[in-house]
Amino acid sequence: MSDEEIEIIDGDKKIGRATFVKTAVGGFALLWGGMTLYPVYRYLCPNGEEDASSKIASLDIGKVSDFPAGSGKNFKFGSTPALVIHTTQGDFHAFKAVCTHLGCTVQYRKEKNKIWCACHGGAYDPDSGKNVAGPPPKPLMALKVDIVNDRVIISNA
Ligand code: FES
Repeated sequence: MSDEEIEIIDGDKKIGRATFVKTAVGGFALLWGGMTLYPVYRYLCPNGEEDASSKIASLDIGKVSDFPAGSGKNFKFGSTPALVIHTTQGDFHAFKAVCTHLGCTVQYRKEKNKIWCACHGGAYDPDSGKNVAGPPPKPLMALKVDIVNDRVIISNA
């Protein structure tokens, strides 16, 4: 056996040291590439996983009196951030609180009477969820609000 050859364990086959190193480096590069690209893939294709909120039929988030007129409150609808707004006109509106720009969680800002995204200054109309300022490209996803026996019930629209 020459200095350039090593013997693999389960056979008579002999490979050179250079071949062994190339194979090991190639395997490491594949592993590293997979570990690097998988998070990028998950970022670019976030809907590969089922949205947990789609499994929820409805959610009781509290009494009507827990939500004073002119206020908004964030809550979790399954694993999805959500937002309910009780307008000064007495209407309830609810949305998934996920900014349509890059996915930051939005909040109701009473002093502006807007749904606000602090990440890049995006704003949405609190009645319709329509994008009205900043970079968000489309409206917030609406949820359905029902008042049942003085309870605020949220469900998918
Ligand atoms: S993520 Fe909301 S404005 Fe950019």
